[in-house]
Amino acid sequence: MTTPRLEVRDLSKTFAGVTVLDRAHMSIQPGEIHALVGQNGSGKSTLIKLISGVYRADAGGEILVDGTRVGPPVHPGRLHQEGLAFVHQDLGLVADLSVRENVRVGRHATRRFIRWIDKARDRDAVRKTFEFLGVPIDPDARVSSLTPSERVAVAVARALQDREAGSGVVVFDESSRAIPREALPAFYEMIRFLADQGTSVLLVSHNLKEVLAVTDRVTALRNGTVVDTGVPTDALDEAGLTRLVLGRDGALDNLVEVFPATLVPGEIEIRGVAGGRVTDFTASISRGEVVGVTGAVDSGLLDLSALLGGARAGAGHIAVDGATVDLARARVADVLDAGVALIPQDRPGQGLALSLTVEENVTAPHLTTRGSAWWTGRGWRHAETDHVLDTFEVSPRKRDAVVATLSGGNQQKVLMGKWLLGKPKLLILDDPTQAVDVGARAAILQATRQAAQQGTAILLCSAEVEDLAAVCDRVLVLEDGVVARELTGPLTPEAVLNAIFTPVAGGAA
Ligand SMILES: Nc1ncnc2c1ncn2[C@@H]1O[C@H](COP(=O)(O)OP(=O)(O)OP(=O)(O)O)[C@@H](O)[C@H]1O
Ligand SMILES: [Mg+2]
Repeated sequence: MTTPRLEVRDLSKTFAGVTVLDRAHMSIQPGEIHALVGQNGSGKSTLIKLISGVYRADAGGEILVDGTRVGPPVHPGRLHQEGLAFVHQDLGLVADLSVRENVRVGRHATRRFIRWIDKARDRDAVRKTFEFLGVPIDPDARVSSLTPSERVAVAVARALQDREAGSGVVVFDESSRAIPREALPAFYEMIRFLADQGTSVLLVSHNLKEVLAVTDRVTALRNGTVVDTGVPTDALDEAGLTRLVLGRDGALDNLVEVFPATLVPGEIEIRGVAGGRVTDFTASISRGEVVGVTGAVDSGLLDLSALLGGARAGAGHIAVDGATVDLARARVADVLDAGVALIPQDRPGQGLALSLTVEENVTAPHLTTRGSAWWTGRGWRHAETDHVLDTFEVSPRKRDAVVATLSGGNQQKVLMGKWLLGKPKLLILDDPTQAVDVGARAAILQATRQAAQQGTAILLCSAEVEDLAAVCDRVLVLEDGVVARELTGPLTPEAVLNAIFTPVAGGAA
């Protein structure tokens, strides 16, 4: 038997008396791509933060690399030496710095006595890493000028640098969701290349298709306990993997059939929206309808929701119930006043008050519409919050939990609940199922459909073709900043994908 590259035994973590990880164990072989799966809040990130030394483990437990005990505690300053590298969800790159600076941050070649950055040596080391990865990137280029797949390579290069080929473990905590679809094949190729060299990869992912396609074995956590580990991916299909994650079945139905559209009078007109890569977005949406917007990474899709929600300066108009919002002048509050709510892509930045409780977050935006003072509406606030906690199975199910202590996916559920329950006239959703598990994803999409049935017009901006096909009455496809085509009728993920990547107007195929 070969010595595992990484082995954890009996790792536990307790926060304020609550055990969120209970004697976790897992072992990863050299050259293996290993998936770590589990529902939101099941303990995946906690396990990774114990390995990376961000959290201190409870007493007992062991972390071994190539058979040698390295912790706990693992000293964060020694991770690199121990062969452990971590790539976080947002890839952690600074757009305004050069490739070299991004790769070498925190690990500058120093001269004796003074901490002096030796640029020539640095540049050399960085170039060597890219040569190894087979991606020629200029170390002096700005990260902001790179394509998405080059950025991924920079993040991987940072994790790998100065490392002997074939050694160590690289851990990706939900990184692939931040990588545009176009860049994913290059990412998968890169991690397979690393694994073929002998480096091990640990991939945390909610994308079951990805887990099935790119990993060798799977470990599943449920409620802080490892329920199965080392399961060969070959032995699983999507239904089996779903059961491993949820402990039950959880297929995503076609929700358009389950909750058919009932249109209410009152068309919402969006005209001439421009800003960023969006040059002219025009659409009309009926109350009760779910309209998807999608497109490739350079289509304008990434800019659209912030423009519509008034979160980013731009031009254009939204007409709701006879009132028109001029986006060139409007701020978020004006857009909200007109009955238009935005659930942004960037949750902590724009959507949630992290230091407040779940109840404060869920009910704050609706207090004024309720017309009651804070203290009179306590029963209503409790009921409203309980409804969110139950509908989306938020864990822990506590109204007074501080949002910052929730797992990433549970924060997303709270944010969705906060706005879906507010019954705006137009709701703009930007990638609403990011970071959520397969069960919560179904719940969020279902709640979206139900909000439409109650008379909200919904604009769903997303690159997730399965979400779009399951929940939209029609889908608009952006290309070069304008709506290039519209898909109607029963939608399939394949049809949406084809529409995104088959250019319409005279573009190169
Ligand atoms: N600093 C903290 N204080 C209190 N509880 C915490 C803290 N960090 C995490 N938790 C709790 O630990 C549990 C596990 O969270 P963790 O972030 O590991 O989940 P996860 O599996 O990564 O979920 P997700 O898929 O949503 O990212 C959750 O119930 C979370 O609320
Ligand atoms: Mg997590």
